[in-house]
Amino acid sequence: MRRPFVRALARPLVLAAALSAIPLASVAPAAADGIVVGGFPVDASESPWVVALSSRDRFGGTRSGQFCGAVAVGPKTVLTAAHCLSEDALGAPPEQTRDLKVITGRTDLRSAEGREIPIRESWVNPKYDSESNAGDFAVLTLAESLPRRAVMGMAAAGDPAYEAGTGAMVYGWGDVTGAGDYATGLRAARVHVLPDTLCEEVYPGMGGGAYLADAMVCAGEKVGGRDACQGDSGGPLVAQGKLIGLVSWGSGCGRVGSPGVYTRVSDVIRRLGWESAAQESK
Ligand code: ARG
Repeated sequence: MRRPFVRALARPLVLAAALSAIPLASVAPAAADGIVVGGFPVDASESPWVVALSSRDRFGGTRSGQFCGAVAVGPKTVLTAAHCLSEDALGAPPEQTRDLKVITGRTDLRSAEGREIPIRESWVNPKYDSESNAGDFAVLTLAESLPRRAVMGMAAAGDPAYEAGTGAMVYGWGDVTGAGDYATGLRAARVHVLPDTLCEEVYPGMGGGAYLADAMVCAGEKVGGRDACQGDSGGPLVAQGKLIGLVSWGSGCGRVGSPGVYTRVSDVIRRLGWESAAQESK
């Protein structure tokens, strides 16, 4: 299955697609250097709310079956991207992916450290639109609880953490170059929340994703170099100690003038009717 080049640029790509269908190398920026591109290694114990989504049946065992990121927002509640659980990604509905799991506390995916927790229930936002990429979130309910310290608070609407210029951090086990070099260790990259107007200009939605300020967060570096990439999707964007975004899409990785686009967590809260929960965890 091949997609036209222009569509491929702004479509969310999951690992399966990146490895098979999409000519990723041709999309890779020469300037991207090195999840998360431009990141540094971190230990899972320092950021216990970052978890990996895994299916060895679908993605093989070398990297623990990791194919997306996710983030714990309750002891048994995990948020990820809707496109991670699409049929495109999994080859079947999530209920039929029997070994779908969340991996917690595993810095190096080649190791056996941490825990693998089966997913009891998955709910994919039915309003997720794969054309515009709007509404890119899903809620997973775990079969076992995570410790309290592994739960990240969500930033409510109007929280200063969403303001342009705020320093943020994105986490994942994804591609470190944009050319299909998947990390084995968890990494993080320092980015900034960028003005909505910038992403609106860059992503007007002609033949690709459309940036919608109400539902998305624009983040990266004006000069490029630091960004999320394929395989990081669903993972957290954290600012001021709160969750503000989920890795969703972008054009290439770390390219100058092509910021990363994240699912806006305050919109997730609003759509799920979680306002009181978000307030408590502030
Ligand atoms: N859609 C990608 C994934 O499934 C994430 C892409 C993020 N891209 C970016 N340039 N920030 O892993």
